[in-house]
Amino acid sequence: MLYNPDIPRDRYNNYGDREWTRLERDGHGELLYAVHTELLKRYIRQGDAVLEVGAGSGRYTKDLAAMCGALTVADISSHQLEFNKQKMRELGLFSKVRSYHELDILDMGVFGGETFDCVVCVGGVLNYLLDREEDGLREALRVLKPGGILIAGVMSFIGASLYYLDGIRAEKETFGIEATRWVFDTGTQDPVHYPVPSKHYVHMMRSAEMDALFAPFPVTVLERSSAGLFSLGGDAALENARNDGELWKLILEKEIEFTKLPGTLDCGMNMIYVAQKIN
Ligand SMILES: C[S@@+](CC[C@H](N)C(=O)[O-])C[C@H]1O[C@@H](n2cnc3c(N)ncnc32)[C@H](O)[C@@H]1O
Repeated sequence: MLYNPDIPRDRYNNYGDREWTRLERDGHGELLYAVHTELLKRYIRQGDAVLEVGAGSGRYTKDLAAMCGALTVADISSHQLEFNKQKMRELGLFSKVRSYHELDILDMGVFGGETFDCVVCVGGVLNYLLDREEDGLREALRVLKPGGILIAGVMSFIGASLYYLDGIRAEKETFGIEATRWVFDTGTQDPVHYPVPSKHYVHMMRSAEMDALFAPFPVTVLERSSAGLFSLGGDAALENARNDGELWKLILEKEIEFTKLPGTLDCGMNMIYVAQKIN
């Protein structure tokens, strides 16, 4: 399937505030938030110029604003950007954002080359790019200074298919076993092979695909992490654990520890790659 920017734009222009609550309304969201923020804290320094692209409603914007010297925020969805601005105003952080840009990661011509110390692109922007994934990564690296850090997070196919197995079973009833085989083989939901009513047309990735995507570029991958690993325990078990404060604290700690083990990389809901642009 060819990339169509209207798909993510329309989806996120009609998303309401679900993006803002996504990372705290349940245990699954909290796990993702814990892993991502721990990584951000380790790689971002106070004086850094940071670009957050695909920032959405701003769950990480608010943290990045406090972590770095100069934050630039970008997203393809005008609605998400407006929401992000409103939230930053409410939190007294609006002045910490240097500028907001409505743009597609494929064309960030508004920024010169080698502008940022760090580019943060988490939550699945790359998954929407389909045949343009490599172009998206090239553009993210273009705006990064030599030695700069790219933090890229994607939806993971294997983790998501374990978590949503019952949904896959229901979809098999509708689309048939060959369509199910297609999504297992390719990780791609598209209107021809796997026409999900949500129109959530994406390519969910395996770590081997992320490795292949990064391989042609002048980068060193510093770290690979999964995220949303304990999500595989299921929503009910997660919520029970979350109701037990001391157990939940321990699980968050172990989520961060276990997601760094190579054997878990494909098994979370997301994968995060941290790559340094070679000088
Ligand atoms: C799932 S949300 C993630 C938001 C935030 N990064 C997070 O993790 O909570 C994905 C965001 O990426 C944006 N997006 C999708 N495709 C994009 C593209 N090609 N260029 C820029 N932003 C894009 C969407 O509008 C949406 O706000």
